[in-house]
Amino acid sequence: MTTNALPAAKPANPNFSSGPCAKRPGWTLEALSGAPLGRSHRAKVGKAKLKRAIDLTREVLEIPADYRIGIVPASDTGAVEMALWSLLGARPVDMLAWESFGEGWVTDVVKQLRLKDARVLKAGYGELPDLAQVNFDHDVVFTWNGTTSGVRVANGDFIPADRQGLTICDATSAAFAQELDWAKLDVVTFSWQKVLGGEAAHGMLILSPRAVERLQSYVPAWPLPKIFRLTSGGKLIEGIFQGETINTPSMLCVEDYIDALEWAQSLGGLKGLVGRSNANFKVLADWVEATGWVDFLARDPANRSNTSVCLVVADPEVKALPAEAQEAFAKALAAALEKAGVAYDIGAYRDAPAGLRIWAGATVEAADLQALTPWLDWAYAEAKAGLKRAA
Ligand SMILES: Cc1ncc(COP(=O)(O)O)c(C=O)c1O
Repeated sequence: MTTNALPAAKPANPNFSSGPCAKRPGWTLEALSGAPLGRSHRAKVGKAKLKRAIDLTREVLEIPADYRIGIVPASDTGAVEMALWSLLGARPVDMLAWESFGEGWVTDVVKQLRLKDARVLKAGYGELPDLAQVNFDHDVVFTWNGTTSGVRVANGDFIPADRQGLTICDATSAAFAQELDWAKLDVVTFSWQKVLGGEAAHGMLILSPRAVERLQSYVPAWPLPKIFRLTSGGKLIEGIFQGETINTPSMLCVEDYIDALEWAQSLGGLKGLVGRSNANFKVLADWVEATGWVDFLARDPANRSNTSVCLVVADPEVKALPAEAQEAFAKALAAALEKAGVAYDIGAYRDAPAGLRIWAGATVEAADLQALTPWLDWAYAEAKAGLKRAA
């Protein structure tokens, strides 16, 4: 549809941001009424809540019993950097990057930690690096789902079971929407604000027995602030993984995370969540397939994200414009949809190619994405008419 007629219905919920993501269907502030506010997180009631958050995380994500699960400060970034600063340096490291967040971890390792034995395997937006080139005798750092390009790894088959190095995986926009292959992952991180629509500021750090073994046998050459310290006297601080957080968490955020996990359980756990994200993705994929002016940024269908769906304008007339004009065109689409109250925060990430990024994680309703698609066509027709007027 490329007429300028206003589509009949708007999405019931216009929140399609890639983080913080839409709250779960039916969420109200009332869901937080059980939070032990004004109480110590180290009181019995606080510790029980933190333990419940950890236990539900294990259950919903189907995390093996011998993996540790910790709630740590500073959201996903805190969890990743804690792992990089605590674990790296024992072996050479392969850094994989194909979009902005992966590149951020490269900066950490190359420019801040200044590891000499760091190899960087990069690909541009829309592609994956050649995974066959990765040396798993090295430690390997990668992002399961590249949130700013919409490119993910399809599964963990590229990681050998008998690797010597550790795999450190930023899974923040994959966890709860994609199957993570736990046996292939030694460190997994995510925050609460993505697929479950929780609140930001707290990170999850999940460690395999091999990662724990590294922590207990290797001391990095650089100083570690208290906020990163996972060991004491050469032993893992087990309390961190039982809800004795390093510093003070927000019990309001914890309550919200528990609410989201209980919602996940009510859908049948991981299978239900993955199913919702896949169904959401299909709504957008079917529309892209049927629509000439738009395409995925991710080239290979096998690697297309079912959470952060990144789209580019494929109309040859728009692609023939100078780069700034293409960017302005894409921005006009997002701005028109925001102004109409139809979709918020769907412009491409600031470092990514011009286009749209629409979140399709589990808290988004397929019916809302369905309702959004004619509006995307409407915005395109409006922007195209604007171009013609300007010509
Ligand atoms: C892949 C990835 N890594 C890291 C981050 C940073 O997450 P946070 O702001 O929760 O630290 C994001 C946020 O969008 C992300 O998508």
